[in-house]
Amino acid sequence: MVTAKIAPSLLSGDFARLAEECERMLGLGADYLHMDVMDGHFVPNLTLGAPIIKSLRPHTKGFLDCHLMVSNPEQWVDDFASAGADLFCFHYEATEDPAALIEKIHAKGMKAGMAIKPKTPVDVVYKYAPTLDQVLVMTVEPGFGGQSFMSDCMDKVRELRSKFPELDIEVDGGLAPENIEVAAKAGANVIVAGSSIFKASSPESVISLFRKTIQDVQAAA
Ligand code: DX5
Ligand code: ZN
Repeated sequence: MVTAKIAPSLLSGDFARLAEECERMLGLGADYLHMDVMDGHFVPNLTLGAPIIKSLRPHTKGFLDCHLMVSNPEQWVDDFASAGADLFCFHYEATEDPAALIEKIHAKGMKAGMAIKPKTPVDVVYKYAPTLDQVLVMTVEPGFGGQSFMSDCMDKVRELRSKFPELDIEVDGGLAPENIEVAAKAGANVIVAGSSIFKASSPESVISLFRKTIQDVQAAA
């Protein structure tokens, strides 16, 4: 059975204190550190790139789950690998040849993830899923933190889970205590959350609630 993994999105953290924020999240129970890479082209926002990952790497042992919202993701595989990224997740919509890209990511020693935007049908993932380490079903339009969770994306998670019981299925965008149960019941096991963790009075309680909800849903199944 797939295990629950909670991935705070550092996009909601203090970029000036990135290493401390990462260590703080790991200390509060985070499994992954979700790093949102945006190029101002694939999405209308600009965040960070491989140099920041490289600077961060010596300061944390955390699993760097890098979500590349960029055009031409092929261009950045080498840089992210040498920067020390653990997982390179590209967008299906951003590449012509997902199979070659997955191979390239693996050849560089990283785990490979593929993300789909809310309007992209889930069946595009099927032929690549057996070679992927993780699939990310976006639950907001990529580009910004703090948007509302789109519950209609849960049908895609449900379908994916029924076809791939052992796949790590990540959801990203608007995840919060109010909707974690819906996501867990659909079959998501990797939960990205920015605002709901970083803005909480007790981020630790939110992280443990996310984990417990997934575990409870799995136990009841
Ligand atoms: C959005 C990013 C998300 C974002 C999530 O494009 O991919 O990772 O940080 O933030 P919240 O949880 O605030 O929606
Ligand atoms: Zn993300």
